[in-house]
Amino acid sequence: MSEESIRLRKKEHLEICSGDAAAFRLKSNGFEKYDFRHYALTEVEIGRIDLSLRFFGNKIDYPFMISCMTGGSDELNNINLSLAEAANKLNIPIGLGSLRYAIDTEEHNFHLSKIRETAGGVPLLGNIGAAQIVSADSVKIIKSLIKKTGCDIFVVHLNPLQELIQKSGEINFKGLRKALKKINEHIGVPVIVKEVGAGISGDAAKELLELGIRGIDVAGAGGTSWAGVEIIRNKDDENNEFWDWGLPTSQCILEVNKLKNKYKFLLIGSGGVNTAEEAAKALAMGADMVASARVVLHQLNAGGVTGVTGMIQNWFETVKKIMYLTGAQTKEDFNNKLLMQVNNTR
Ligand SMILES: Cc1cc2nc3c(=O)[nH]c(=O)nc-3n(C[C@H](O)[C@H](O)[C@H](O)COP(=O)(O)O)c2cc1C
Repeated sequence: MSEESIRLRKKEHLEICSGDAAAFRLKSNGFEKYDFRHYALTEVEIGRIDLSLRFFGNKIDYPFMISCMTGGSDELNNINLSLAEAANKLNIPIGLGSLRYAIDTEEHNFHLSKIRETAGGVPLLGNIGAAQIVSADSVKIIKSLIKKTGCDIFVVHLNPLQELIQKSGEINFKGLRKALKKINEHIGVPVIVKEVGAGISGDAAKELLELGIRGIDVAGAGGTSWAGVEIIRNKDDENNEFWDWGLPTSQCILEVNKLKNKYKFLLIGSGGVNTAEEAAKALAMGADMVASARVVLHQLNAGGVTGVTGMIQNWFETVKKIMYLTGAQTKEDFNNKLLMQVNNTR
């Protein structure tokens, strides 16, 4: 696939995701099925709640990450520059979109170094798709991308559904487990594996952890449907049965969190985390942190960098209020205990 067609495709993804057309239609992220247990005897000191955490050795100020989105032309790189600025102001990690466009060319090196510079000391995450890592020279390719971007962590996205629906999608993932193990052992930075909106199940996560992966971003169903994005791009019939395919985000978090009994890893809850309450529920279900993509893009479009920083600051002020009302002084108190299943909608 030519660099020009990758660029065009990324641009179309961005346009489609600037609205709500590609949201899941029949399936939700499942958070609405849970409610917090109000705790009338709270003694929590809200001003002393500390949500900062260690993200692969770096201290970050909020349990939030800007999900991998875009890059590759001036316009798209400028979005990354703004997101990098927001991440720097908040001291949170920022993910770059797939770096496939930068593999065989030096053309983007200047822009990529600008993004690194703008992000300052916050963790910067490189990104590539599963289809690209099954090639024999994946370690060499990723090492060169790490050099070009100065990224601290590398993310591999698993997107079989998207590739299946995409015209000329690359659906051959033969050798994926072996490739993941190899890059995890040889690229020299930590690896996170994510989905893009169809979710990582408990069994898939267990296999990843057995391979040595120490960061899992579930990117579950209920937010942006990547089948939906490709159906819109193809101008296909919107009744396509795969539009709503995937495991709801809440289900993924609950399943993957059980693996913490045996493995040490960072669990990132994402996929339709679009409000403070959803972020709080993901954390209460056991996610160490949350991440969002489309809602961040919407905030950037509507309010620029301060729109993004304001949203995240507000979200976590609300999270602290929820912790206060549920009697959780610390993130550990908040994990796992505070939700009940509900059926109280009118
Ligand atoms: C415009 C846009 C571009 C994206 N590009 C990538 C990408 O290049 N690599 C990747 O791993 N995920 C990509 N994603 C997927 C997101 O990182 C995220 O996993 C998914 O959209 C679900 O999160 P959300 O419901 O908060 O949007 C993209 C998302 C958006 C909105």
